[in-house]
Amino acid sequence: MITEKINKSDIDITKLPKHVAIIMDGNGRWAKKRGLPRHFGHQEGMNRVIDIVEATKDIGIKYLTLYAFSTENWKRPKVEIDALMNLLVLFIRRELQRLVTNGVKLNILGDWSVLPDLPQKEINRAIEATKDNSDMVLNIALNYGGRQEISRAVKLILEDHLRGNIDVDVIGEDTISQYLYTNGQPDPDLIIRPSGELRLSNFLTYQSAYSEFWFSDILWPDFDKTQLYRAIFDYQKRDRRFGGI
Ligand code: FPP
Repeated sequence: MITEKINKSDIDITKLPKHVAIIMDGNGRWAKKRGLPRHFGHQEGMNRVIDIVEATKDIGIKYLTLYAFSTENWKRPKVEIDALMNLLVLFIRRELQRLVTNGVKLNILGDWSVLPDLPQKEINRAIEATKDNSDMVLNIALNYGGRQEISRAVKLILEDHLRGNIDVDVIGEDTISQYLYTNGQPDPDLIIRPSGELRLSNFLTYQSAYSEFWFSDILWPDFDKTQLYRAIFDYQKRDRRFGGI
């Protein structure tokens, strides 16, 4: 049982992860514990997002990825999907100015062209308003699936090959990275999953080959910056060998 509290000052700024990714899990259980409908959990989860974005930026981490809606989440009841889409709109309307003030550039991972019109409109507005920011990149994964991302990359590479733009001989691991939604970004060093589930759930499948994982029983709506500090503190104690000795 971990009892000691970790503060920002406990983090070694010379050993920061470049890229942190979070699976925001446990919203439904948070609501159920309180006898509330599931969307209350998502709403409370959405309320945590901006604080974690600001805390991440404040530590000096350059890339943060949040898993907000997977390709599998379409299987949920329509009322819950609608609630999640509305929360996305609300998040952008409420927090866009804070993203701009913090120098955060918004990027979406996943095929967001199939989202309803209103979220698409707000995402376009947020991407446009943050496009010149360079202090931190916030990736929000929406209609995202790691396998979908890899099969899309294969198709794009093949199309480029058929157009004569890429030779089979030069296709390697880096080529595939360049055709992913995270093109140009470092792979996630640290992947955080609260809520007690111990799996990746089709998140950053290609990029996570050498990621460190950090799990906790806390539900996402209860996740605050002290948990983020704890995850980074624990990460800094790991010995990353990347297959070496
Ligand atoms: C998983 O918890 C969470 C989701 C599928 C949605 C996450 C979305 C948000 C936190 C709000 C919107 C985010 C942004 C960036 C605007 P779950 O519902 O599967 O939890 P459970 O396992 O307890 O049921």
